[in-house]
Amino acid sequence: MAKYVINPNKKVSKINKEIYGHFSEHLGRCIYEGIYVGEDSQIPNRNGMRTDVVEALKKIKVPVLRWPGGCFADEYHWMDGIGPKENRKKMINTHWGGVVEDNSFGTHEFFELCEQLGCEAYVNGNLGSGTVREMSEWVEYITFNGVSPMADMRAANGHKDPWKLTYFGVGNENWGCGGNMNPDFYANEYRRYQTYVRNYDKDHPIKKICSGPNVDDYAWTRGVLETAFGHQMENADASHGFMDGLALHYYVHPHGWQNKGSATDFDEKDWYITLNKAYFMDELVTRHGYIMDEFDPDKRIGLIVDEWGTWFDVEPGTNPGFLYQQNTIRDALVAGITLNIFNKHSDRVKMANIAQMVNVLQSVILTDGADMILTPTYHVFDMYKSHQDAMLVDSSLETEQIGLEDEWQVPNLTESVSEDAEGRLHITVTNLSASESYPIDAVLVDFAAGEVQGEIVSGEMHEMNTFEAPDCVQVRSFDQVTVTEQGLSFTIPPCAVVHLTVSRKA
Ligand code: AHR
Repeated sequence: MAKYVINPNKKVSKINKEIYGHFSEHLGRCIYEGIYVGEDSQIPNRNGMRTDVVEALKKIKVPVLRWPGGCFADEYHWMDGIGPKENRKKMINTHWGGVVEDNSFGTHEFFELCEQLGCEAYVNGNLGSGTVREMSEWVEYITFNGVSPMADMRAANGHKDPWKLTYFGVGNENWGCGGNMNPDFYANEYRRYQTYVRNYDKDHPIKKICSGPNVDDYAWTRGVLETAFGHQMENADASHGFMDGLALHYYVHPHGWQNKGSATDFDEKDWYITLNKAYFMDELVTRHGYIMDEFDPDKRIGLIVDEWGTWFDVEPGTNPGFLYQQNTIRDALVAGITLNIFNKHSDRVKMANIAQMVNVLQSVILTDGADMILTPTYHVFDMYKSHQDAMLVDSSLETEQIGLEDEWQVPNLTESVSEDAEGRLHITVTNLSASESYPIDAVLVDFAAGEVQGEIVSGEMHEMNTFEAPDCVQVRSFDQVTVTEQGLSFTIPPCAVVHLTVSRKA
């Protein structure tokens, strides 16, 4: 029996809703087909956004959406994507499949999408191949309310009022596709570019995100903060919003970049390798967080994990540049493990964006023409949405190391617990074992459990949803929870993600 102690008296940190954020790039069939089909499409849509996808995304309460990339961002020139669509430039998407990008989805369409979803906007600017002026004018175009060249242009293009821009990324992966810079060079560029990301809307200052490390490149984190963070301190008065977040990117690809492995055809060894690599996120946010603590002990700057998820070989027969992959119970576990880690580190991790929202990498939705399916990952986001803006409470669960080989051992269980505004506890637990169930005995400190509602995503490790069988994996009710003297007891089956909502006894 694994001992689980949950102490709601000890509130640890707020779980920002943005931890449950998403990422949508001009890549493959994410934006085009997956989200945007155009007003004239036979597929039901509102202002070009497909209704089925928007409704499904609203259900999981997408809190924030990052756009337009990714690597695409540092080649994107925003003025190509405004004005009458027939006049917009057609260009080659050099990064992703070499297909024609017709720019029919641009700034106006992105904000329309955010409005339909009811989410915050996170626009990623072009530092790698764009100018300071271009970045500055984009921010003016989006946010300035008054008479100015960019505000006038926005009005002439049909949108008199400015939009609310909550987050702005100053470049993307500038150690790689964003210009192959070294940390010192990028940090100086960051200092310069961000100066002109003006806060025109004083009620909603823009939160600026600095391009951060790839995986475990701790030298990047230290190098960028040494050059950029010190400047912020020296210029405290002028520095409002100088840097609000540092981005981290980490993908799980079980067999390395060259041969990442199939999304659907894998064995038990691959299962543990994948989950081991997902669990590595805990070390990454801890160690990057330690470096950030040296500069920013008050944790004012968020670690923004704005690209995370599984990255497997593309589905056979699909364009290798489109990064289209299926999604199984294994992905559900990766999502559950990762989101528990983010919750546990919510004092430092202020936003995260799974890559990517539709039809690319670890998507929550897949589409095929007019059809749409929800992936196992979607269902985990659906269960975990209760954590959004709730308070993380102190909890610890006894675990043991499991796996087939020493190198790829993982803890058998992961968990996190939050308390929502109504005083209910939300307990999310993952069972990483491919074959074993585990009984759990939970002690709830000073909390007499009343009503308990349980839900679960589980199945054989390869189970997935397909267009032929869209509901194999779904959220099912989990009612095998017993209220005990001290708390709760339940047994979690293998390959499972569980969510319990516990109300106080009246
Ligand atoms: O998400 C796919 C790509 O992965 C992004 O464009 C890039 O930022 C990262 O390398």
